[in-house]
Amino acid sequence: MSFIIAIDGPAASGKGTLARRLAAHYGLPHLDTGLLYRATARALLDEGLPLDDVDAAVEAARGLSLTDFDETRLRARDMGEAASVVAAMPAVRAALVDMQRAFAARPEGAVLDGRDIGTVICPAARVKIFVTASPETRAQRRALELAGRGEEVDYNAILDDVRKRDARDSERSAAPLKAAADAVTLDSSELDRDQVFAVALEIAERARNA
Ligand code: DC
Repeated sequence: MSFIIAIDGPAASGKGTLARRLAAHYGLPHLDTGLLYRATARALLDEGLPLDDVDAAVEAARGLSLTDFDETRLRARDMGEAASVVAAMPAVRAALVDMQRAFAARPEGAVLDGRDIGTVICPAARVKIFVTASPETRAQRRALELAGRGEEVDYNAILDDVRKRDARDSERSAAPLKAAADAVTLDSSELDRDQVFAVALEIAERARNA
C-alpha cells in the first residue's frame, strides 16, 4: 500500500518545513498545496482581474502546471492573503482536486501539506498530522522567514495577517481548516524544528508499522 502523509494546519505553523523533511526522510515526492491557491491568485492579479472573478479563477486553476511555480514570488506576504480569498471558492477547490489526488496516487506514496489534505483530498492517508501553534508564535516565525528573504517586516501587521487568514480559512464553508477526526494534533508552539520533526517521525513510524 502506498505511503501517503497528510500534513494540515494554519498559516505559518511550520507544516511546510515539516512536510519537506518527512519527504526527504522517506524519499517521497512532496506537494505544497498552498502553492496551487497562491498561483491561482497570482494568475488573476497578473491579468489585472479582481480576485472574486470565479470563472477566471477556475480557468486559472485548471491551467496550472505543478512543475513551473515561481516559488519566491508566490511565497511573498501579500500572496498568502490573496490565496485565501480564491481558496474560499468551492469551484476553485473543485478544479484543483484531481491534480492533488493524481499527485498522491504515485505508487510509492507522497507527502502533501495544506488545509484539507486529511479531510478532503486524501481521507485515506496512512499518516495525518495537524500542526498548530499559537498565532503569536506563527507570526514570529513568519517575520523571521520574511526578514531572511530580505522583505521588510512589521510584526504587528504579520500577526494581523495570521489572525485574518485563520478566520477566513476556518470559517469558510468549502473544506474549512480543521483537523481530520483521525489526525494527530502536533502543537509546535514550544518546539523547535528538530523537535517537531522527531515527534512527527514517531507518529509516521507508528502508522507505517501498524
Ligand atoms: O499554506 P499557505 O499559506 O501557502 O496557503 C495559502 C492559502 O491557500 C491559505 O490561506 C488557504 C489556502 N489553502 C487552502 O485553502 N487549502 C490548502 N490545501 C492549501 C492552502
